Amino acid sequence: MLSDKVKQRYESSINLINVTLSDYLCIKNTPYQIVADAMQYSVENGGKRIRPMLVLEFCKACGGDIIDALPFAAALELIHTYSLVHDDLPCMDNDKLRRGKESTWKKYGETYGVLAGDALLTYAFQIASGAGVADHTIVKCTRLLANYAGIYGMIGGQTLDIKNEKAETLDFEELKETERLKTGALIRCACEMGCEIAGASKEQFEAAKVFAENLGLAFQIVDDILDVTGDPTILGKEVGQDLQNGKITYVTLLGIDGAEKLAKEYTEKALEALSIFDDAEYLVEITKYLLNRNK
Ligand code: IPE
Ligand code: IPE
Ligand code: MG
Ligand code: MG
Ligand code: MG
Repeated sequence: MLSDKVKQRYESSINLINVTLSDYLCIKNTPYQIVADAMQYSVENGGKRIRPMLVLEFCKACGGDIIDALPFAAALELIHTYSLVHDDLPCMDNDKLRRGKESTWKKYGETYGVLAGDALLTYAFQIASGAGVADHTIVKCTRLLANYAGIYGMIGGQTLDIKNEKAETLDFEELKETERLKTGALIRCACEMGCEIAGASKEQFEAAKVFAENLGLAFQIVDDILDVTGDPTILGKEVGQDLQNGKITYVTLLGIDGAEKLAKEYTEKALEALSIFDDAEYLVEITKYLLNRNK
């Protein structure tokens, strides 16, 4: 449970992000409306908006203006949403439910699902490259987005994740590398972009990286646990999918108790890294909340 103060700040952050996303996704009366609608459908409602929220919070924690950070926060949420749209496809995890409604391919068909994902990814770079900040900040943030979303980041991790389905065994380090990339990369991107936009100090950057690395790992372990113990009506996505897809996860390797213990350890490391920031109370509470989340 979040305290009232933190809940209010989280909700106002989500509102700001949602308004920004709606503005960008207000694409009307085009001959290719079906894909524009599918983009909007995938992004609107339901998401926790953790990544864009982290962009804003790290920007703020390092003394920046969150208005400067908004286009990059929106771009990252579009990339995250594209990763989910493609992750749900029948050739990937074959999921029919996402964010409490039919997954994009289920609603619009596979072909438009693929195109909507492609369009979200590309649009993210259009938005980031047009942000109203100094050119060198645009270049650095765009590079972070490309690096962490692509083969060296999320796509690399998704590739290992798919290979994992066919693996007889997987050791702990191989799994850690998969999760570090498929989920950790976009979380690192969020925190580092926030620092970059604010012109953070070296010390702030280093702390943000350690925080993000550990939060990313904890976040995916909790996702794996919720795939076993979660309630689909709260989670907004199907459960039991990892087992059905033959995935080796932290739960397979360590059991629920072991996975919970490990998520707690990573969360503690993430929390330690926050100690150098002045106004860390909010991020501390959010990080603990993510460990104990039920969606
Ligand atoms: C789900 O991410 C996929 C993972 C990387 C674990 P989130 O749990 O952040 O999903 P939304 O954005 O809230 O729907
Ligand atoms: C997905 O991991 C990570 C992405 C890069 C999209 P999962 O496949 O475990 O995410 P969910 O459980 O479908 O949200
Ligand atoms: Mg997946
Ligand atoms: Mg999935
Ligand atoms: Mg999952």
